[in-house]
This record gives sequence, C-alpha cells and structure tokens, in this order.
Amino acid sequence: MRMAISGRTEVFAVIGDPIEHTLSPAMHNAAFEYLGLDFVFTAFRVTSDELENAVRGACALGIRGLNVTMPHKSSVTEFLDWADPSVKFLGAANTIVNERGRLRGFNTDGIGVLKALKNNGITLTGKKVLVLGAGGAAKAIAFSLMKEVDELCILNRDATKAREIASAMKPFGKIIEGNNLTPQQIQVELQDSDVLINATSVGMAPCTSESLVHPAWLKPDLRVMDIVYNPIETKLIRDAKTAGAKVINGLEMLLYQGAASFEIWTQCKAPIDVMRSALLSRLSCAGATV
Ligand SMILES: NC(=O)c1ccc[n+]([C@@H]2O[C@H](COP(=O)([O-])OP(=O)(O)OC[C@H]3O[C@@H](n4cnc5c(N)ncnc54)[C@H](OP(=O)(O)O)[C@@H]3O)[C@@H](O)[C@H]2O)c1
Repeated sequence: MRMAISGRTEVFAVIGDPIEHTLSPAMHNAAFEYLGLDFVFTAFRVTSDELENAVRGACALGIRGLNVTMPHKSSVTEFLDWADPSVKFLGAANTIVNERGRLRGFNTDGIGVLKALKNNGITLTGKKVLVLGAGGAAKAIAFSLMKEVDELCILNRDATKAREIASAMKPFGKIIEGNNLTPQQIQVELQDSDVLINATSVGMAPCTSESLVHPAWLKPDLRVMDIVYNPIETKLIRDAKTAGAKVINGLEMLLYQGAASFEIWTQCKAPIDVMRSALLSRLSCAGATV
C-alpha cells in the first residue's frame, strides 16, 4: 500500500500538453509503491508559453524529477544546466533531474527501444535495421541503434528529414541511408533487413486499420517492432504475427524508457514487471499518451 503523503514525500511529475491520458503516473507510482519509496508521481498540463515558468516553478518547489512529453521535449533543453550526450545530439530531453536546483537532462526514448529489443531476445550486432519515420522518436531510436547495428536505413514521407538524420549519424562510421518512404522503397529495403521498426504514427488509434507495410512483404525471420502503443496490437503487429515474425509492441518501448527515467531519478533498479502490469491495466482505457 502507498505510504501516506507527508512533508517528506518527494514529488515527480510529467509535463506536456495535452496530458490527461498520460500513463506515466500509473507506471511510476506502482514502482514507487512496490519499492516502498516515499515518492509520488503526478502530471501537469503545461502550455508552451508557460513552459519556462513551469520548469522554474518545479525547481523552486523542489520537484525531484520531471518527465517531459509533447510538445516540450526540444524547447525544455534551453532550461537545462547540464545535458547528457543524447540530449546534445538530439536537441530533445524527456527526463530531468533536479539536483538541488541544478537541472540535468536526459533522453531515454532511444534507450527504451534498445532495451525493449534486447530484453525480447533480439540481437543487433551485424544486423540491418529499417526504420520508418524521421520524427523525434525515430531520431532518438537511430541514435541509440547506431552504436549496435551494422546498417541502418531510415525512410520518411518527408525524405529531407530522413537524409538529415542519416547525415548527422555519419560520424558513427556505419552504413546509414535516408530515403523516401514509398511502398516500393519499403519493399526493396525489407528484402535484406533483419529488423523493422515503425516509428511513424501510422496505425495509431483511431486509424487502427492502417499500416505502411504490405503483409506480403513480412517474413518469418524478420523482427518487427511498432512503437505505436495505442492500440497495443497495431495492424503491423497483427500482420507480422500472421507472417510468423517475432514482434515487439510499443508498450515495451514505453516501459523501458520509463524504467530508464526511473533509474536515473531513484538510482534503484526499476521493477519492470510491476511497471508493465500497471501500464497494461491502464491501457485498457483508449486514447492514452505517455
Ligand atoms: N512507445 C513509446 O514509448 C513511444 C515514444 C514516443 C513516441 N511514440 C509514438 O511514436 C509515434 C511517432 O512519435 P514522434 O514523437 O516521433 O512524432 P513526430 O515527431 O510528430 O513524427 C511523426 C512521424 O510519423 C510520420 N508520419 C505521420 N503520418 C504519416 C503517414 N500518414 N504516412 C507516413 N508517415 C507518417 C511523420 O512523417 P513526416 O515527417 O513526413 O511528417 C514523422 O516521421 C507516435 O505515434 C507516438 O505516439 C511512442
């Protein structure tokens, strides 16, 4: 049972706009409770023009840690006193630690995907990964994957964004390409890819019958991850299962990025199963956002 809130209780929060469907309080409060930590996690809707006041206010109130979600992941970086290499590279933060008034920023989105893949038995060394999308999540994923994979191909509707990510990743010395997201290009790239990651919003509720990938292009030896978690089982995940491919849903990324934030804040090992159960029970309500 949760400890009674007192003057000693440490406060954590997620800020974003909109925020009412966030799953982060459920996941983190379940973990705090399980570990008997006198911490509480809440959510605040913060509009863009109030972001600076909100961050300064959180600091003044001694809020110990923040998760930052859409649309503030980029703009919040200007209020950080220190940024880890992923934040510097991506220009976006989703986790802030308040260390006696000094704000340290991290980005756990890419780590979330990497851990979700690895903890589901997928090895990346020597592999080719195809990423669909070049938005904030795709860029964080590409940054994390670069240290592991041999080859990465990023396809995006706006090909310029895919090429920009590819060119920013050149210093990693791996084979990386950015191109146009067309049905033909997906089919061609899938022929020699080991892992496919949908990092676009295609398939997300309410458009749950949509997928960018024709079922006929999916094969049993492909590993398929969809970072969309609402619904948990997207059309891409259903099609991949039918094709006999191993699948990882977006809940796993949500879980592991949250677990990474939890570990940064608390220095405790995140209770993954407890956090997963909390997410699953809350995901039964539609329209959830992290
Ligand atoms: N599981 C998790 O923990 C987690 C974490 C973060 C995000 N997500 C999910 O990941 C998705 C992307 O998030 P984000 O933050 O990267 O968003 P974002 O920065 O807005 O990027 C959206 C991406 O989706 C592409 N896209 C949108 N509609 C498309 C369509 N009809 N056809 C082809 N491509 C389309 C965009 O292409 P253009 O650039 O061409 O517009 C862009 O690449 C969202 O559904 C979000 O909920 C999940």
